[in-house]
Amino acid sequence: MQLLFLVFIILVLIFGFVVAFGAPYLPTLKKQTDEALDLLNLKPSQTILELGCGDGRVMKAAAKRGLMVVGYELNPVLALIAWLNTLKYRSQVKVVCGNFWRQPWPEADGIFVFLLDKYMEKLDQSIVQKRAGQKKPIRLVSFTFKIPNRKPDGRHQGLLLYKYL
Ligand SMILES: C[S@@+](CC[C@H](N)C(=O)[O-])C[C@H]1O[C@@H](n2cnc3c(N)ncnc32)[C@H](O)[C@@H]1O
Repeated sequence: MQLLFLVFIILVLIFGFVVAFGAPYLPTLKKQTDEALDLLNLKPSQTILELGCGDGRVMKAAAKRGLMVVGYELNPVLALIAWLNTLKYRSQVKVVCGNFWRQPWPEADGIFVFLLDKYMEKLDQSIVQKRAGQKKPIRLVSFTFKIPNRKPDGRHQGLLLYKYL
């Protein structure tokens, strides 16, 4: 009983500490995942980054479409679940357990995020800075939250598309 309580406390702490760096865990449903990938409109073998990849469900759906995927996840429990969830696509999917704000990002064609309002301006600045020197355009799809002072290039239901040219 005490062990169960200890495990519960540890999980609460692990899931809770992430809130200091980004959005808490809330998974995107299958319908929105499919619509987000449709909106990103990437071709097989192109690369997508998922900033905060949760349990890996979006990465798995992207890999099924033939995309190369790099997902960042700060919560080690979720990073492990994401890694296990995408085992079948190991040659396409890389899971990085770490803070995506601090990690280098590889060149990519698309980014998917499901964050919070308060991180969207920082995200915009990070994309501009981190892709400096990258020649190819990058498409960002954000679930629910808008980037302040940037007009979306497309939208579908609660999904917003931004193009960085
Ligand atoms: C709202 S959930 C979205 C999960 C997944 N993208 C999805 O759509 O199903 C946000 C995820 O980002 C992770 N996260 C938050 N801040 C992060 C950071 N700075 N670096 C890496 N992961 C982070 C959280 O642990 C959580 O799993």
